[in-house]
Amino acid sequence: MNVVITGASRGIGKAVAEVFAANGHALYLSSKNEVAMYKAMAEMQDKYPGVKIKAKARDLSKREEVESFGQWVLDNGFHIDVLVNNAGNFLPGSVYNEEQGFLEEMIATNLYSAYHLTRKLLPQMMKQTPVSGTRGHIFNMCSIASLNAYKNGGAYSISKFAMHGFSKNLREEMKPHLIKVTSVFPGAVMTDSWGDFDNSTQRIMEATDIARMIYASSQLSPQACVEDITIRPQLGDL
Ligand SMILES: NC(=O)c1ccc[n+]([C@@H]2O[C@H](COP(=O)([O-])OP(=O)(O)OC[C@H]3O[C@@H](n4cnc5c(N)ncnc54)[C@H](OP(=O)(O)O)[C@@H]3O)[C@@H](O)[C@H]2O)c1
Repeated sequence: MNVVITGASRGIGKAVAEVFAANGHALYLSSKNEVAMYKAMAEMQDKYPGVKIKAKARDLSKREEVESFGQWVLDNGFHIDVLVNNAGNFLPGSVYNEEQGFLEEMIATNLYSAYHLTRKLLPQMMKQTPVSGTRGHIFNMCSIASLNAYKNGGAYSISKFAMHGFSKNLREEMKPHLIKVTSVFPGAVMTDSWGDFDNSTQRIMEATDIARMIYASSQLSPQACVEDITIRPQLGDL
């Protein structure tokens, strides 16, 4: 399979890339920071020398850069089997006192990145010849902050509710086109988003937990679509 993953330089996106690479699938990756992206790519290439891995750094909060990344994907000329819209950023805050501009930044990074990239790639996906009965599978990284309000959710949570709306609509629209759409709702996952949180008691999940669920969902029969993946720490939300 050919797998396109955004936000793949670290955290959940990198774990998703690794699980597909470990299973021999070709990767087309993106992140904002070029040095971090190429470092992660080189690391994966060393670990999985037989796997094709390409990457292009772009700021996906900017529409023209999403267009440019999407065009690079299309120019590679492959069948797009999996698209993982994972790139995202977390700014804690509350509606009443977060900094001016937080909402715009969260919406641009967490929603518009996925919306515009999907729109760029969909025309090709919708007309590509089905492989094993499907034209492709899109995973949208939502959050439990898409499902419930919580303290310090603010603009981040608003953007993730919107991502959920995007993903649900896409699922409905793509049913007759043989393109699967899965919304992923993780609770707390130990990544850079959690800064110096001490996870020595393994209170929160690992990025590989999410990656393994995504990979498993990509492996089902063409007539089965995992619509939602909700996954929380065993002890519940923090
Ligand atoms: N960790 C959690 O607890 C948790 C829970 C629920 C949902 N999520 C969601 O899961 C996704 C990944 O989160 P994570 O915790 O793995 O985050 P992370 O470790 O902070 O990694 C974020 C990734 O997204 C990329 N990115 C951020 N802004 C970007 C931009 N403007 N353009 C292009 N790429 C950009 C980063 O690239 P650079 O390295 O270049 O900055 C990085 O590769 C996000 O959508 C997040 O909201 C996370």
